[in-house]
Amino acid sequence: MSDQDTFKKIISHAKEYGFVFPSSEIYDGLGAVYDYGPNGAELKRNIKDFWWKSMVQLNENIVGLDAAIFMHPKTWKASGHVDAFNDPLIDNKDSKKRYRADVLIEDHVEKMRQKVNKEVEKGRAKFGESFDETQFRATNPNVLRSQEKIDQVEGRAAASLASGDLADIKALIEEQGIACPESGSKNWTDVRQFNLMFDTKLGSVAGDAATIYLRPETAQGIFVNFLNVLNTSRQRIPFGIAQIGKAFRNEIVARQFIFRMREFEQMEMQFFVRPGTQKQWYDEWKKRRMAWHRVLGTAEANLRWHDHQNLAHYADAAVDIEFNFPFGFKELEGIHSRTDFDLSRHQELSGKKLQYFDPELEQNYIPFVVETSIGCDRTFLAVLCQAYCEEDLGDDKSRVVLKLPPALAPTKVAVFPLVRKDGLPEAALAIFNDLRFEFDCAYEEKDSIGKRYRRMDAIGTPYCITVDHDTLIDQMVTIRERDSMAQERIPVSRVREIVRERVDMNSLLKQL
Ligand code: GAP
Repeated sequence: MSDQDTFKKIISHAKEYGFVFPSSEIYDGLGAVYDYGPNGAELKRNIKDFWWKSMVQLNENIVGLDAAIFMHPKTWKASGHVDAFNDPLIDNKDSKKRYRADVLIEDHVEKMRQKVNKEVEKGRAKFGESFDETQFRATNPNVLRSQEKIDQVEGRAAASLASGDLADIKALIEEQGIACPESGSKNWTDVRQFNLMFDTKLGSVAGDAATIYLRPETAQGIFVNFLNVLNTSRQRIPFGIAQIGKAFRNEIVARQFIFRMREFEQMEMQFFVRPGTQKQWYDEWKKRRMAWHRVLGTAEANLRWHDHQNLAHYADAAVDIEFNFPFGFKELEGIHSRTDFDLSRHQELSGKKLQYFDPELEQNYIPFVVETSIGCDRTFLAVLCQAYCEEDLGDDKSRVVLKLPPALAPTKVAVFPLVRKDGLPEAALAIFNDLRFEFDCAYEEKDSIGKRYRRMDAIGTPYCITVDHDTLIDQMVTIRERDSMAQERIPVSRVREIVRERVDMNSLLKQL
């Protein structure tokens, strides 16, 4: 089964089991906008909870904020979004399909990389145990030739994007023979810039003054509140402000399910530091954020770093943490050293001093900022893709199981009476009613026990408790673990404590 087939299955599984629905589906949906169903809402809430606790609760020098989506329009002038938050857009004249020119080039480079990887795999098959991949990549003429081409294409694209040379981007697309993925046609328009912000009108006042934007990042709400937080929270530099909230971008290429949405949620943290120490904090936050992903159970092989060559207008260093989605390694989180760009610009346009008096240095300065910015929806997708598993159980039986980290699972524990009579439902309901105060629980009595297990596997419920006739005599129940399907008998009196030990988010947080 190809990765694309797996991805299609994950999307339909997400819909079938109430995780993600296309928005306003009864009207045929709305491009790149999605709704989270009952299980999706819980999973997303747990992801946000894990992020918030690990950033705000565990760090005395990070505080939270919940800023409005609407902001004064000057915010976006100051931040550079009005003038520079553009994507290079290109249309195919034959298929009439619209693309991001940089993404067309990125996809082309990814295909070149896959060819190199195939070459490496051939080498591995040929040389067997003695194969040294690093040496092969450094010496094999085919690999070296292809790698040189990749570097050339990437370098040129980065330079032309940075200098705004859109004619060269078009030339590169044509020289590389990049075709429209839909039609195969190479008949392209010129490349032009497209601003990604959505605008709307505030109140009943007409004219330009009333035009405001839906925020394209949550970060600016943090910058404009820098002084408010500083003056009210007793924080001293270095300190951070964290926020979770909606952001909006009129993405040209809406695809890959909830990977690229027009309305999405970000979990961002701006860390304000003394100028000159930003490199040290940038390295520190790179380390801490990678550790967060690993603690969440993301396999090391599914994560990698991607240093930005084409730096955003506000950054002096930037790196992405990429996840191996079914459609390849793509950005999951960005860590950016944003210098004093944003605070300086807001100081300039607002006329308000956004400075910090450093008592140790006895001097005022505009702090530098290191930002960690992760998409909640992308994290959701990464968690879902990594958890999705089809298992052959033998005897022509199979199951789909979501091996979610237990602390993130929408339902932590399900309670079943083996049959719907003989006092078993009453005994099971007593356990359920005790557990529901502490965990998201389910109670089910319909269908065979096997079917009920399968339903819970499909939504990633880590534990199922079954009450049978023996329970009424010995006060013991069966607890079944989702991944191993192992079953053990435990006393009713210990169910709550045993489930807590195994699903508790605190055990993850303690590993950070
Ligand atoms: N404040 C910095 C900033 O917004 P970004 O790299 O543009 O940086 C940060 O976005 C994160 O937000 C990304 O790593 C990604 O996870 C998420 N994100 C960005 N655009 C998105 C979109 N259209 N749909 C879903 N998530 C998105």
